[in-house]
Amino acid sequence: MKTKSIFVAISFFVPFIGAKAQLPAYMDESQPMETRINDAISRMTLEEKVAICHANSKFNTWGVPRLGIPGLQMSDGPHGVREEMDWSQWKTAGWTNDSCTAFPALTCLAATWNPEMAWIYGKAIGEEARYRNKNVLLGPGVNIYRTPLNGRNFEYMGEDPYLSSVMCVPYIKGVQENGVACCVKHFALNNQEKYRWNISVEVSDRALHEIYLPAFKSAVQQGHAWSLMGAYNQIRGTHACHNPLTLQKILKDGWNWDGAAVSDWDGTHNTREAALNGLDIEMGTASRKDKGIGFDDFTFDQSYLASDYLDLLRKGELPISTVDEKARRILRLIFRTAMNTRKPLGNMDYAAHSAVARKIGTEGIVLLKNSQKGLPKKYTSPLLPINANLYSHILVVGDNATRRLTEGGGSSELKVQHETSVLAALKEIYGDKILYTRGYAPGKTLYDRVEEVPAELTDSLRETAARMAREADLVIFVGGLNKNKHQDCEDADRLTYGLPFGQPELLKALLEANPAVVTVLMSGNAVELPQVADMPSIVQAWYLGSEAGPAVADILSGKVNPSGKLPFSFPVKLEDCGANSFGKETYPGDGKKVEYKEDILVGYRWYDTKNIPALFPFGHGLSYTQFEYGKATLSSSTMQAGGSVTVSVSVKNTGKCDGKEVVQLYIGDDKCSVMRPKKELKKFAKIDLKSGESQTVSFDITEKDLQFFDDKQQTWTAEPGKFTIYIGSSSADIRRKESFTLL
Ligand code: GLC
Repeated sequence: MKTKSIFVAISFFVPFIGAKAQLPAYMDESQPMETRINDAISRMTLEEKVAICHANSKFNTWGVPRLGIPGLQMSDGPHGVREEMDWSQWKTAGWTNDSCTAFPALTCLAATWNPEMAWIYGKAIGEEARYRNKNVLLGPGVNIYRTPLNGRNFEYMGEDPYLSSVMCVPYIKGVQENGVACCVKHFALNNQEKYRWNISVEVSDRALHEIYLPAFKSAVQQGHAWSLMGAYNQIRGTHACHNPLTLQKILKDGWNWDGAAVSDWDGTHNTREAALNGLDIEMGTASRKDKGIGFDDFTFDQSYLASDYLDLLRKGELPISTVDEKARRILRLIFRTAMNTRKPLGNMDYAAHSAVARKIGTEGIVLLKNSQKGLPKKYTSPLLPINANLYSHILVVGDNATRRLTEGGGSSELKVQHETSVLAALKEIYGDKILYTRGYAPGKTLYDRVEEVPAELTDSLRETAARMAREADLVIFVGGLNKNKHQDCEDADRLTYGLPFGQPELLKALLEANPAVVTVLMSGNAVELPQVADMPSIVQAWYLGSEAGPAVADILSGKVNPSGKLPFSFPVKLEDCGANSFGKETYPGDGKKVEYKEDILVGYRWYDTKNIPALFPFGHGLSYTQFEYGKATLSSSTMQAGGSVTVSVSVKNTGKCDGKEVVQLYIGDDKCSVMRPKKELKKFAKIDLKSGESQTVSFDITEKDLQFFDDKQQTWTAEPGKFTIYIGSSSADIRRKESFTLL
């Protein structure tokens, strides 16, 4: 009897063994994504669908509370996870557990020319974003460097579409492997900060497709970015945050993208356009001038895609399909991030992430010049790397040697767990040989204005520095720009191309006092260097984040051999730059529109074609060793239509120390029915060679690498004929040339 009753009891539970409470499909991660989305949509009311299309705070959106669907938590920025912001005011929340690792600015990442650096960067920043429970990281920025005056160039990856296209992909993948979405920005043509809120960019189809869109296309098609941010500016008269050409025709239809398009903050201006032209999530709207609603009495349901939108849907003046399409994309983003229960936990491993920041920094620092010419006889070699035994007094000069450059600059600003200055790191190596003086004092940025420094202070700082330089064996000048307004900063452009705060006069005084000056430029932009002939050693050191000091010291001391290459050109003078060589209609425009008259000739494309030598060219970067290029060989002298040709070249490290070289391959179309640049970057490879070691590098070139955008046919094409391959150590240091014919 007993056995029977036990059997009956067990058999009662059998059906439940292994069964789980039947989850609704939208919650069930074993279901296909589209099934989950369809199920959620079928359960949501119209009000709920509209609610998820706009912000409910400064950086967050509604989910669907009734269904247990969470909203999205977003955070800046491209160089580190920003501190917590107040829910609805533009101020910080004042938390004490939200410090981050500041990684080098993206110009530095681009300057590494090493996709592996982009991967470790994305992975590490993604781990911190995940740990901070962020679903969307507002970056990377991939706008093209069109003019050295643009205040936000430091956040982007330089002047070449191919370099930006290659370098952004591993960053995006590294972040998104953490279950955090990237929000690639600012789509598109946000190439200046002056007039950014409304200026309309007039640009040709060729420049749009060949220069300004490729990095976004790569981010979407190779990087599979889950979200993307519209830019503030207009494109041909329509705001980028709801522009049918870029958001709908090109991005969603043309590139077949399934992500969610997010507006830049306060970048939405019209309900109907936002409803119909491809915007999915409206962020940052903080007032409704069109309704006389100011900042103080604005509530998030007064967003363009909120109650106004709901009214038009209810009246049938806008199709329900528009909100269903938005909701689908937003739900897909939520399912990929906030509702993804399989995502890693992330971490705040400051030690590991600082090591990543330092590695990227040392790999991105560019040695621009290192010459013995003009030095007194006692200097028997170039000043770099600095041999401590040669010197008893090393004078460090410059505000940037101690300045916290992770602060300021706009939305990419960071509250760091630590930031080691250049001065501190140099003292770590050279001890009490190091003396310091400020040399110059930058003005203060009082939000909407810059407070200038009185002349007496500037003069006395300069005189002190010159006096101390006379008594030193070696001078290390650490200058450049900073994150003040009108320097490398959002929402304003630079006012001059020269070094600010009296640095040219200071440099002149230092060089007169002591010719042995190593100049370290910390900036995100090119600068004018009129004294370049008298400057024996120059290093472009970017904004390097938490490990700025150790990264610079690693390079100056020779612990690491520099291998960075410039991601943008240094024109000798501003008007040499294409965008700045016409009238103000091409930069900064008249406040209403700006005309990209240089067209496809951006950066080295301009300098090459117009025969204007740059001070330091795109792709330039020296090493403490030397590299010799052997003969280049082609697998064939002809390429069939749709075929490929393999180019091989051997490179040898002929110097005394190990080093890395970036082998760059450019292609020129020798004869074409349309204007094309003399040459364009199409391949590159960074190789690590021991002293005396050789390596052969091969590149497969396909017809796709030869194409231009045919604006008449609205498609990419290559015309048969002769093409020249340029292989070199920079865009201006071409070591090998070979030709082949496309049949
Ligand atoms: C800003 C920036 C954008 C940033 C956003 C949120 O104005 O243009 O890059 O992510 O607002 O701070």
